[in-house]
Amino acid sequence: MTDVFPVSDEWAKRAYVDDAKYREMYERSVADPEGFWKEHGKRVDWIKPFTTVKNVSYAPGNVSIKWYEDGTLNVSANCIDRHLKDKADKVAIIWEGDEPTDDKKITYRELHEQVCRLANAMKANGVKKGDRVTIYLPMIPEAAYAMLACARIGAVHSVVFGGFSPDALAGRIEDAASTFVITADEGLRGGRKIPLKANTDKAIEKVGGVDKVLVVKRTGGNVGWKDGRDVWYHDAVSAASTDCPPEEISAEDPLFILYTSGSTGKPKGVLHTSGGYLVYASMTHQYVFDYKDGDIYWCTADVGWVTGHSYIVYGPLANGATTLMFEGVPNYPDAARFWKVCDKHQVNTFYTAPTAIRALMGAGEDLVKQTSRKSLRLLGSVGEPINPEAWLWYHRVVGDGRCPIVDTWWQTETGGIMITPLPGATPLKPGSASRPFFGIRPALVDADGKTLEGKAEGNLVILDSWPGQMRTVYGDHERFEQTYFSAYPNTYFTGDGCRRDEDGYYWITGRVDDVINVSGHRMGTAEVESALVAHPKVAEAAVVGYPHDLKGQGIYCYVTLNAGEEPTEALRKELRDWVRQEIGPIASPDLIQWAPGLPKTRSGKIMRRILRKIAENEFSNLGDTSTLADPGVVDDLIENRQNR
Ligand code: PRX
Repeated sequence: MTDVFPVSDEWAKRAYVDDAKYREMYERSVADPEGFWKEHGKRVDWIKPFTTVKNVSYAPGNVSIKWYEDGTLNVSANCIDRHLKDKADKVAIIWEGDEPTDDKKITYRELHEQVCRLANAMKANGVKKGDRVTIYLPMIPEAAYAMLACARIGAVHSVVFGGFSPDALAGRIEDAASTFVITADEGLRGGRKIPLKANTDKAIEKVGGVDKVLVVKRTGGNVGWKDGRDVWYHDAVSAASTDCPPEEISAEDPLFILYTSGSTGKPKGVLHTSGGYLVYASMTHQYVFDYKDGDIYWCTADVGWVTGHSYIVYGPLANGATTLMFEGVPNYPDAARFWKVCDKHQVNTFYTAPTAIRALMGAGEDLVKQTSRKSLRLLGSVGEPINPEAWLWYHRVVGDGRCPIVDTWWQTETGGIMITPLPGATPLKPGSASRPFFGIRPALVDADGKTLEGKAEGNLVILDSWPGQMRTVYGDHERFEQTYFSAYPNTYFTGDGCRRDEDGYYWITGRVDDVINVSGHRMGTAEVESALVAHPKVAEAAVVGYPHDLKGQGIYCYVTLNAGEEPTEALRKELRDWVRQEIGPIASPDLIQWAPGLPKTRSGKIMRRILRKIAENEFSNLGDTSTLADPGVVDDLIENRQNR
């Protein structure tokens, strides 16, 4: 029996929606999506109001997704200018630096000034509407300024997580054909410096095509400099005017590209557009977090991921909220940092990832209990399934049993939260993302595409579009259709497995493709494999995920060496470092098993199902191995498995 945590009377009363209202609004949203999204489209300030709401086709070969397409707006004006009338002196961003002594508050008036200056500086340096701007910054306010400045002039940002390697950065600059990069001298995380400018130099050396690099001085560390290309951020913005009227942008003009991993090939550029995305990000932020004016809201994600885009920057700022931006890590200077920051800034809503919760659980309850956390009202979880044990600890220890937890399921592709409890409406079941948000029609299908009714387990698809949905893979619409609309025609395929219980609650069981989720970071096993085989001593590699207590999933690599190479501990370390170099520290292999051979079919296809089972220590039932070219390799792999 699952524990159920009912909605408290207080929450049912204080929230925008209680259970009855949820059911009523949800019913309407799926019965009349046009009417529903017409009404809620008005939450955004339009320059030219839309007259059409939804124009969507999921038809094979003709997938096209448009929302509010004849409307025009400016996203930065929605996130800043429209609040100046009555909230100019309200704090828009609380910035908490890596060191606990380092913080600052930025009001909406200041945000406006900073964004206008930067937008003008970008224009002065040649950036035009439609240009792709790569942002490779630490978690400093300039990252938000840069995103909003792009939005102001209609440039398309591509934020690259500061933990990615020069090679990974290069691939993203190249794919987006980006000519303008914004970076910093160095990043600072947990007291350690990250050489962002040096990485940028290496990336540009590899791919070229970049005309200007704007460099924020964060640490003052030494950096290489290329005259004519490199420009100090502070010089450029201090010379720029504070007046920059927002461009009129079509609802369907791109707002940003964000690269994410798939089951095959290189990461793809997920493209989001302006109008529908903003409607969806701001609406979900309001309802899921029951955001009210005056709340202090903190999402601990990095702006390099979609969570940072939608729930640090665009959603909260469109709602005129105070959003906290944290530069550091959960365990620096100690494992009470999160809770100390909650007390310091009187945070009401706290949104983080299960991996952080599990790590902090390990540090013990005492560190949490030394802090007050009385300001907290609501907790959130995102990025991976939260195991009930971590959920219960989060609820009992962090929230002192009084804060509901919203376990929000969504993806880079969805732009915003899709399946989630609403704190005033949904009785909570630990580990379940529960029920769909307004307008979202989830369904479960079996491998043949048959829709499963009632209590069931299958692949999760979404039957109809919503305004925040991605529009295409940048530069490769065919890949977009192939990835998301070909497995089950006329629906959006999420790539996740899912169970629906007798109450209609959804339980995400994890990816059903070759994507793994390591500490909430999404990764394609194919990317790690191609990094491994790029090493001169490696002949072949197969990578799978395996259950990991802290990270959710760990990276398990089967590696076949070239003839004559010795499998040594030193080589294991070398391969680990190699992958870190090629992709970034988040892709560092947890386990490497030397594999004299890999289980392959007679046609040469690697049977990953078997490798997954061995990595999970579930080799007693490997299924049918009779189609293997050489069944003997399996015994060797079991014998020498690493995870036991
Ligand atoms: O497998 C699901 C998992 O994370 C994937 C999406 O990863 P990404 O695009 O990086 O976006 C993460 C932040 C939205 C999903 O396909 N996932 C995300 N949230 C949850 C989740 N799995 C279970 N429960 C969640 N709440």
